[in-house]
Amino acid sequence: MLSVKENMKVSFSAELLKQFEEVVLRYPEKRQKSALLPILHLVQAEYGWLSVDAMEKVAAYLHIEPIEVYEVATFYTMFFLEPKGKYVLEVCRTGPCCLVGAEKIIDHLEARLGVKEGEVTSDGLFSWRGVECVAACGFGPVLQIGPDYTFYENLTTESVDELLTELKKKAQ
Ligand code: FES
Repeated sequence: MLSVKENMKVSFSAELLKQFEEVVLRYPEKRQKSALLPILHLVQAEYGWLSVDAMEKVAAYLHIEPIEVYEVATFYTMFFLEPKGKYVLEVCRTGPCCLVGAEKIIDHLEARLGVKEGEVTSDGLFSWRGVECVAACGFGPVLQIGPDYTFYENLTTESVDELLTELKKKAQ
């Protein structure tokens, strides 16, 4: 079940629709549903997250039912169904990272950003969330930042502070 706190009306641009068309053409005729995942990535790249309105418009574009889009969008954690910050810091909170201080990193991040998991800082720059093992267990504590999923390893509270400063500068 979708829990919707906020909806965002969208109107796909001609440029975005052209990109959809290019994706659909990669698949056999009448198999346009296969284009769903790459199209959702394009929509998220454009708007930052997937609103119900955006998902319904993707369904209409692909001639499928909205539920077929919701099923995919809610299954994969890389899709965001609520607004998020420009940078989403995803901290591994699985056992091996916790043994070397992941919880301390999460507490520090929450205090520094002043927002709880899933919330967005007032400047729109940051969100954070805990994620399960990101396969860098030997280098914990670790976090990753999408959309390119850059890894930051062997984190300390000091290196987290440096990272936040660096990202703020980058965003200016
Ligand atoms: Fe954190 Fe595997 S447990 S990366």
